[in-house]
Amino acid sequence: MLSLLASGVAGTGVPAWVALAYLASGVLFILALRGLSSPQTSRAGNRFGMIGMLIAVVTTLVTHEIANIVEIGVAIFLGGIIGFTIARRIAMTAMPELVAAFHSLVGLAAVLVGWAAFLEPGAFGLLVDGSIGKVSRVEMALGVAIGAITFSGSVIAFAKLSGRMSGSPILLPMRHVINLGVLVAIIALTALFTIGAVASQEYFIAITVLAFIVGFLLIIPIGGADMPVVVSMLNSYSGWAAAAMGFTLGNTAMIITGALVGASGAILSYIMCKAMNRSFISVIAGGFGAEDGGGASGEPREQRPYKQGSAADAAFMLEQAEKVIIIPGYGMAVAQAQHALREMCDLLEEKGVEVKFAIHPVAGRMPGHMNVLLAEASVDYDKVFELEDINSEFAQADVAFIIGANDVVNPAAKTDKSSPIYGMPVFDVDKAKQVFFIKRSMGGVGYAGVDNDVFYMDQTMMLLSDAKKMVEEIVKSLD
Ligand code: TAP
Repeated sequence: MLSLLASGVAGTGVPAWVALAYLASGVLFILALRGLSSPQTSRAGNRFGMIGMLIAVVTTLVTHEIANIVEIGVAIFLGGIIGFTIARRIAMTAMPELVAAFHSLVGLAAVLVGWAAFLEPGAFGLLVDGSIGKVSRVEMALGVAIGAITFSGSVIAFAKLSGRMSGSPILLPMRHVINLGVLVAIIALTALFTIGAVASQEYFIAITVLAFIVGFLLIIPIGGADMPVVVSMLNSYSGWAAAAMGFTLGNTAMIITGALVGASGAILSYIMCKAMNRSFISVIAGGFGAEDGGGASGEPREQRPYKQGSAADAAFMLEQAEKVIIIPGYGMAVAQAQHALREMCDLLEEKGVEVKFAIHPVAGRMPGHMNVLLAEASVDYDKVFELEDINSEFAQADVAFIIGANDVVNPAAKTDKSSPIYGMPVFDVDKAKQVFFIKRSMGGVGYAGVDNDVFYMDQTMMLLSDAKKMVEEIVKSLD
């Protein structure tokens, strides 16, 4: 048995136990993705992923004479400390920019591995008749190009999301022609790099530099509202870059992991585009949010009458209700109101009120944002419903309780063809008997920067305050 495991997999020179270990880590990564698809199983999913990564890293370290184990230990220790500190300190609202920053590192790693392989092809086993093999050249050029695009694109996404750079799209004249021209140049250079008698350093430098430029050019015209889709798309690119590098390095685990990241990032981008009613092509083409992004237009809005209430009013009506549907949004995350909200929910249930949570697929600023916060506050998963499962229930609800959400309840998405959110599926809160709307001021707008007719409906009571403060006051009144 041992000799069987130590023997090579036919034609690859890879010992059977290594192939098996990589296969096991690949299966664990698939189980991780499966687990992460539901809040109930997400912890188990994370554990599968961690074990899979441990197996892949240990197998790679013991089978390659890369560097000495002390250097690697120090690098893992330092990286681990940095990752641990960042993960503990990061606010949930800043998660998309952190993800963008991490993707930039994946892209940069792919570029560095590609260059290391180019400079020392012998060490990577890439030499065929004294020159880098043609297939390896394609893999290297692809890996470096995708890695460089991921790096510069992610740096711009990080700068925009963290406010270091304006979130508005920067629209260069003839940008589509320029981008297409640069992409065609990269493809042509890759062909020249591959067919040459020797792998030309000049071509490889040109591919790398042009790819860095195209990453920058592709992301600057994209407005803030589309940025999370872009982050997910860059996530997908980083996966493909890793997969290409996996071929170069002959590392099965990298190929499997890269393909999983690439495919899941692409699927997530598609789901987000669908939930925002944006076509993937229009996101990539950029420009959304030039006039509307985050209400930056500065246009004074027409004053319309609205009703304002207090926490005591809201508590009184909530107690009388039979069914309450809570719609959380970005403002709940900003205020960190989820724990107070759970308390409110518990008190109402003690009084016999049925309480459900309605989660829009793009509520907040990242996929699953609301689910994570509600899970953190120990809200039962079986009280949390997706848009298509709960939307028909608003007609039977006594109260639609909107807390820090805005765009996801805006009826303009259904009726106003000129609205930037037209076509986005939204909650039918107008069908509920009463609507409570928590936000800080009438002046504030949602991500798309547009007014919301729900504020001015007869059955709407505006609760103007910080979300956490308002819910805490409601809790006091309910006690
Ligand atoms: P938004 O439409 O962005 O509205 C947020 C609301 O929260 C605003 O009305 C704001 O009004 C209020 N708010 C902010 N801080 C608050 C606080 N401390 N206390 C109380 N209220 C506060 O949120 P949404 O409904 O969740 O929609 C998400 C938007 O982001 C959509 O347009 C979506 O397309 C976009 N987006 C989301 C994603 C993902 S993956 N989630 C990705 C891309 C884009 P005030 O300022 O007046 O308080």
